[in-house]
Amino acid sequence: MQPAQFAVFGHPIGHSLSPQIHRAFARQFGIELDYRTIDAVPADFAAAVQRFFADGGRGANVTLPHKAAAFALADTRSEAATRAGSANVLSRLADGRLAAHNTDGAGMVRDLTERHDMDLRGHTALLLGAGGAAHGVAWNLLDAGVETLTIVNRSPEAADALADAIGEPARAHTRYWEDLTSIGSYDLIVNATSAGVLGVSLQLPFSLIGARALCYDLSYGAAAGGFLAWAKTAGARHAFDGLGMLVETAADAFELWHGQRPDTEPVYQALRRQPA
Ligand code: ATR
Repeated sequence: MQPAQFAVFGHPIGHSLSPQIHRAFARQFGIELDYRTIDAVPADFAAAVQRFFADGGRGANVTLPHKAAAFALADTRSEAATRAGSANVLSRLADGRLAAHNTDGAGMVRDLTERHDMDLRGHTALLLGAGGAAHGVAWNLLDAGVETLTIVNRSPEAADALADAIGEPARAHTRYWEDLTSIGSYDLIVNATSAGVLGVSLQLPFSLIGARALCYDLSYGAAAGGFLAWAKTAGARHAFDGLGMLVETAADAFELWHGQRPDTEPVYQALRRQPA
């Protein structure tokens, strides 16, 4: 019998760690699987997904730039995917329909609260960015108990749209990017912009760092380097990249597909030791 087929769709996708993570999880349970990368340009994404599932694919992870398209083409959508308006997991249901789910926010909060032992309750949080990545984590930060969520985006309209979608004006509100120098300090600063991935430095003021500041970049490797260097120089108490989030989001997808909860820590530690 052929092993079950899984894949991650993205563009580019060559350096994705997802195949390695899913294979390592599968080894923990003696599960045989075939997990590959599929590079699809946006115009070909929907057709490539349909082909993959028509050929027997069981599940797919979806990364940049396809998360909104994955959400749009699914037949059913989880609550987490619906509120984010994007999906990083597609699963084929028994009746053949495609289900969309988003594990990004849950993965990030679990990385912070369980791996790094942080308690987010009562924190004043600053969310930098209002694109797909920010949508994926905003609600989970509120669910984790942050007291306020200030959303700041280079284009203010996108920040306003995210705050409107959240619909809790007493807790989640926006400020202008130009005001970052004067809005004071925060306990938690989450970088959800794609600036690092694009190789651009954000030029953030040190005044954003509060006394117990925890800084988190949703990306990892070189893309997170600039933000984490800024955080440490500015005196943040903790500064983490999103490698743990990647492993946790993968674990949620793995459990959805295989019904077993993998041990993420050895996989995370192995990736941490691996040269970028
Ligand atoms: P992703 O899925 O990674 O979130 P996205 O939806 O394209 O990608 O969103 C990218 C985010 O990074 C946006 O919030 C974007 O700000 P704009 O809405 O103003 O474009 C932000 N971003 C990208 N480059 C940036 C930069 N140099 N400075 C500040 N914000 C930046």
